[in-house]
Amino acid sequence: MAKTDKKLLRDGGPAARIAVIPGDGIGREVTPEAVKVLRSVASAGERQIELVEFDWSADKYLREGISLPPGAVEMLRDEFDAILFGALGDPRVPSNQHAADILLGLRFKLDLYVNARPVELLHERLTPLRDRKERDIRLIVFRENTEGLYVGVGGFFKKGMPEEIALQEDVNSRKGVERIIRHAFDYARRHGLKRVCMSDKSNAMTFAHDLWQRVFKEVRQEYPQIDSRHLYIDTLAMEIVRDPSQFDVIVTCNLFGDIISDLGAQLAGGLGLAPSGNIHPGRTSLFEPVHGSAPNIAGKGIANPLGSVLTSAMLLDFLGWTREAAAVHDSVKAALFNNYLTSDLGGDKSTVAVGDWLAERVARFNP
Ligand code: NAD
Ligand code: IPM
Ligand code: MN
Repeated sequence: MAKTDKKLLRDGGPAARIAVIPGDGIGREVTPEAVKVLRSVASAGERQIELVEFDWSADKYLREGISLPPGAVEMLRDEFDAILFGALGDPRVPSNQHAADILLGLRFKLDLYVNARPVELLHERLTPLRDRKERDIRLIVFRENTEGLYVGVGGFFKKGMPEEIALQEDVNSRKGVERIIRHAFDYARRHGLKRVCMSDKSNAMTFAHDLWQRVFKEVRQEYPQIDSRHLYIDTLAMEIVRDPSQFDVIVTCNLFGDIISDLGAQLAGGLGLAPSGNIHPGRTSLFEPVHGSAPNIAGKGIANPLGSVLTSAMLLDFLGWTREAAAVHDSVKAALFNNYLTSDLGGDKSTVAVGDWLAERVARFNP
């Protein structure tokens, strides 16, 4: 497919090509359920989706020594509108090399600088916090996704010796910091949200996060209608538990965003429910649940598919298919209200049964 054709499709057009990478562990169990729901809602909405599956995983890595095949990045970039991803991680690959090559590789090489991780309480009984309603827990974390401590710049000195030194560099560029902070403000403005909180550790990380401070002060001036503030990450971790209702949009660096988004996920019902998008606006982007491959429950058919299904709703939104996205989101809410759930949320249904139920529900979507 020519690139220009693809661009037309992205602007809310009727057809899309989606690459599917189920990965390892429960990624292989939840992703087929999200695919089932995607197919069902697309067909109800008279949209065409072409899904192409790729078996990049620990199995393939162990079998063939291949993690991210040569040419994969260009192929995804040029031939697909979006990627639906499961999870990577396998105890047989303790180095996590294949996950680093594939997941971090795609984040970096497709330049997916926005890691969007919404935290939305869909049913009040799901939060571990006392007396919190749905309206109290509705925020989004924007995690910088292409820099920071994740870039893999570093090394060992005297490896294995008693005086060994390990270095891991924190890489922050002005361009990288600026574009994620600007994205947070633009998102707030587009969605009528009033509050943006930038979080760093500039009191201790006096170079890297000094840059975050200076860029934040510059960019915030362009958005005088938005109430912007700064919290150190340790304070944010405390405040988000004490009173999550004070946050609409949080923007932070790669590592802090990883941590705070798991904390946020738990406030809204746990990892089984949390979706995310790795996005470069206007380019091929990758959508994945926040959770990992969960080797402790893999193969039992009990993984919660709702995180992956909500992830597919984010993907639909990205394609511009907002009504289909809303239908999928509503179906997840319905499963929660009808208690049609896996055991992590107190239900007794299997992964496949929940997926079937959602697919059947979105099939009734009327465009
Ligand atoms: P994890 O998210 O896989 O699991 C953490 C806990 O949450 C486990 O108890 C697990 O059973 C539970 N859980 C997670 N998702 C669930 C679901 N959908 N339904 C029910 N329960 C669920 O995190 P971990 O155990 O720290 O990591 C396992 C592997 O996954 C590691 O190799 C790690 O590197 C990898 N990982 C990958 C990704 C990714 O691919 N995006 C994200 C996180 C971790
Ligand atoms: C995530 C995961 C990854 C990350 C790991 C698997 C490298 O925890 O997507 O949140 O830290 O980004
Ligand atoms: Mn994580």
